Amino acid sequence: MNRRKFIRRTALTSAGLGMITIIPSEVWSSGVSPSDSLNVALIGCRNMGFGILQHHLSNPGVNCVAMCDIDESVLNEKAAELKKRYNQSPKLYKDFRKLLEQKDIDAVIIGTPDHWHCLMMVYALQAGKDVYCEKPMANTIAECNIMVKATAYYKRMVQIGQQQRSGFIFQKAMELIKSGMIGKLRKVNIWANFEYDAGPVIVLDGPVPQGVDYDMWLGPAPVKPFNQNRFHGSWRHFWDYGGGLMSDWGVHLLDIALWAKDITNPPVRVLTYAGNTFHEKRARETFDSMTVIYPESDFVINWDMTAGLQRGPYDMPYGLAFVGDNATIVADRSKIILYPEWDNQAKKPRTEEYKYTEGKESHGEHVKSFIDCIRTRNKPACPPETGRVAALYVHIPNIAARTGESILNWDDANNRFTNSILANQLITPFYRQPWTLPKF
Ligand SMILES: NC(=O)c1ccc[n+]([C@@H]2O[C@H](COP(=O)([O-])OP(=O)(O)OC[C@H]3O[C@@H](n4cnc5c(N)ncnc54)[C@H](O)[C@@H]3O)[C@@H](O)[C@H]2O)c1
Repeated sequence: MNRRKFIRRTALTSAGLGMITIIPSEVWSSGVSPSDSLNVALIGCRNMGFGILQHHLSNPGVNCVAMCDIDESVLNEKAAELKKRYNQSPKLYKDFRKLLEQKDIDAVIIGTPDHWHCLMMVYALQAGKDVYCEKPMANTIAECNIMVKATAYYKRMVQIGQQQRSGFIFQKAMELIKSGMIGKLRKVNIWANFEYDAGPVIVLDGPVPQGVDYDMWLGPAPVKPFNQNRFHGSWRHFWDYGGGLMSDWGVHLLDIALWAKDITNPPVRVLTYAGNTFHEKRARETFDSMTVIYPESDFVINWDMTAGLQRGPYDMPYGLAFVGDNATIVADRSKIILYPEWDNQAKKPRTEEYKYTEGKESHGEHVKSFIDCIRTRNKPACPPETGRVAALYVHIPNIAARTGESILNWDDANNRFTNSILANQLITPFYRQPWTLPKF
């Protein structure tokens, strides 16, 4: 047993006795060589979680030692796939609390719906694990705050799954903008038009599928009858579990707009239009159309989403346009195109053209950044503070939409809206017993 594993096991023994041992990060980093093996566990296996697990396994020395899902068929199917592709046989669990008792786990991947992220992350941190938590960091403002504090308290590594931070495309876009190539950045226009967010066709409630622990899927959320539209995949259209297209894509794209200006605080003022403009009623509580303005004194971010469509400006379903005095940079996950302004006096473009169209998904790089940080104890590409700010940029307009407030003013120091009693009631979720919101 190497020094690191030894220290970890000692810490876990104390934690098992109900004591919390805080281990300074320097201790973890001592004696850790990059060739050390790393044992990861996955909670929530169906879709994104399993993808992220596979990105972990494509790094040397990484093993999957545990997997958990409340759906037996998902769990068995993914376990079989893991055996076939990677020849790995993790222990299988239906209750994540049991998984967290497994002592040889170094890091946990959280790939469940958003309403579970906070509890699972805090429990994993308490158990001495590092955490890769999918985005949006949590489903409410209060949970995001707790997760930031818990990470600092337990001194663990946490990467939030806003993977665009780790990829070439947006790093290059940031480099171009910050080099001054487009002149003063005046606004960022963001759009997101996705077919899927119109929601699925309405179906009646039905029996809980065999092998599914539905109570454990609901967890801290209110009890509702089982409906396949509120379950795997499409839960994201219902407030108890997610925030619709606004939060699903909003955290990714707004995060990049914030990065361009190095904004590290939540918005102070948000103007929101939200409506349902799709031609038919679908299984969805979240809004299908939202236009949100985040005004600053000399800069503005505009968000414009329409669910049920698949095309948008520059013939891109989603994207960001960084509007500067000398040029506009348009980017999505696969490309960057710089459109120079024309200088009428000099009779030439105000800056050179730039085009890159070979971009690819950046999950792999983001996972690699997490693994490097586990080994070096350096800060990851998207720590919880960054995840929190992006999450508040989407939760605030969603709260505005739900309460019918077109303008919301946020006082971050006091964790409250200054102009809406109704909005303040949606900051903190009510957890269903026996689950309780962690206290920090
Ligand atoms: N970073 C990205 O680009 C990206 C893309 C897609 C999804 N996501 C995020 O990934 C997360 C999962 O989304 P998805 O599309 O994979 O959802 P999904 O519904 O397809 O899968 C979620 C899985 O979690 C399981 N689960 C639910 N409660 C559980 C519990 N208590 N214990 C164990 N397992 C539980 C479900 O049974 C299911 O297998 C979400 O937070 C989503 O926002 C991120």
